[in-house]
Amino acid sequence: MKERILVTGGTGYIGSHTVVELQNSGYDVVIVDNLSNSNADVVDNIEAVSGIRPAFEKVDCLDYKALEAVFAKYDGIKGIIHFAASKAVGESVQKPLLYYRNNLVSLINVLELMPAYGVEGIIFSSSCTVYGQPDHLPVTEQAPIKKAESPYGNTKQVNEEIIRDTVASGSPISAILLRYFNPIGAHPSALLGELPNGVPQNLVPYITQTAIGIRPQLSVFGDDYNTPDGSCIRDFINIVDLARAHVVAMARILGKKQKEKVEVFNIGTGRGLSVLELIHAFEKATGVKLNYKIVGRRAGDIEQVWADPQYANNELGWKAETPIEDTLESAWKWQLKLRERGIQ
Ligand code: UD1
Repeated sequence: MKERILVTGGTGYIGSHTVVELQNSGYDVVIVDNLSNSNADVVDNIEAVSGIRPAFEKVDCLDYKALEAVFAKYDGIKGIIHFAASKAVGESVQKPLLYYRNNLVSLINVLELMPAYGVEGIIFSSSCTVYGQPDHLPVTEQAPIKKAESPYGNTKQVNEEIIRDTVASGSPISAILLRYFNPIGAHPSALLGELPNGVPQNLVPYITQTAIGIRPQLSVFGDDYNTPDGSCIRDFINIVDLARAHVVAMARILGKKQKEKVEVFNIGTGRGLSVLELIHAFEKATGVKLNYKIVGRRAGDIEQVWADPQYANNELGWKAETPIEDTLESAWKWQLKLRERGIQ
C-alpha cells in the first residue's frame, strides 16, 4: 500500500514540484488547494510529468468543515505538507489581517484535524526570512529569530511557534520546519513553474519576463550595499532540489527517524550569489541580454543571507545539486513555454 500524503497548496509553485517528487518516490498524493494563486491545469501538468494523476480537492484550508471532509474522504492520510498560504511580502503590509487570518487559521485547522484522523507528521514551509539580517553568515538553524519585517514574515515565525506549542502540549504529531532560502527555476520538462499574479515581485520571474519582452526593463534594487558588487546577496535554490527535501523530510517523520518531535532544517545551497551575479549567470546560461538598470534600494530588503545547509546535508542526506546555470535555463524554458501556451 502506498503511503498517503496530503499536500495543501499542492497546485502552487513549490507544491506542484513537491507533488511530482512525492509521486516519483512512491507516495499517493491528495492535493487541497483553493486555486487563489494557481490554476486547475496544474493537476494535468503534474500528471503529464509523473504519469500519475493526483487526487485534487478545491478546498480552502480556512474552511474547517470542507477540510475535515477531505480527511474523512481520503482514509489513512499519514503525513501533511502544508504549503497553502499567502506569500506576497508587499501585499501583506497592505492587508495584514488577510495574511494573519489566511496563514494562521489554515495551519490551526490542519493541526486540529491531524490527531483526530491519525495523521502522524507535518512539514511546514517556513522561510529564511525568520533570521532577518543574520549576525553571522552562513546562517545556521541556531541563529536567533529577528523581529519580522512584514506581516508575511511574521506569519512564518508565529506558525513555527504554533507548531512547537502544539507539540509541546502533547499533541501526538511530529513536525519538520523547512526554512527555504530563495527558490527559483522550473521543472526541466517546462510543464511546471512559477506563475506570478500580475507584476512579479520576485527577482527571477522579473528577469524572465524582461528577457521575453513582457517588461521593458529590470530594476536592480540598490548597488550600494556592503557586498563585493554592492547588490544584495541571496542563496538561490533550485525548485526541484527544494521539492526533494520535502520527500526526505517526510520519510524521516514516517520512519520515526527524528531526533526531536519538532526539527528545523535550512534548505539552501550554502552559496551566496549577488543579484548582479545572478543576472550575468542568466545571460550566460541563456544567451539572452537583459535590459536592466540600477535603482534605489527596496524597503525591507535584507542585505545578504545564505544558508549553512550542513545540518540538512548530514541529517536528511539531502543536498542541493543543480548548477545555477541549469536552474536559470529551466526558468527561461518555462517562460518560453508560457508564451507558447499563450499564458504570459
Ligand atoms: C522574499 C521574502 C521571502 C519570501 C520570498 C518569496 C523577505 C525578506 N523575503 O525574498 O521571505 O519567501 O520573497 O516570496 O521577506 N530584486 C531586484 N529587482 C526585482 C526583484 C528583486 O533587484 O525586480 C532583488 C531584491 O532587492 C533582493 C533580491 O532581488 O535583493 C531577491 O528578491 P526577491 O526575489 O523578491 O526575494 P527576497 O526578497 O529575498
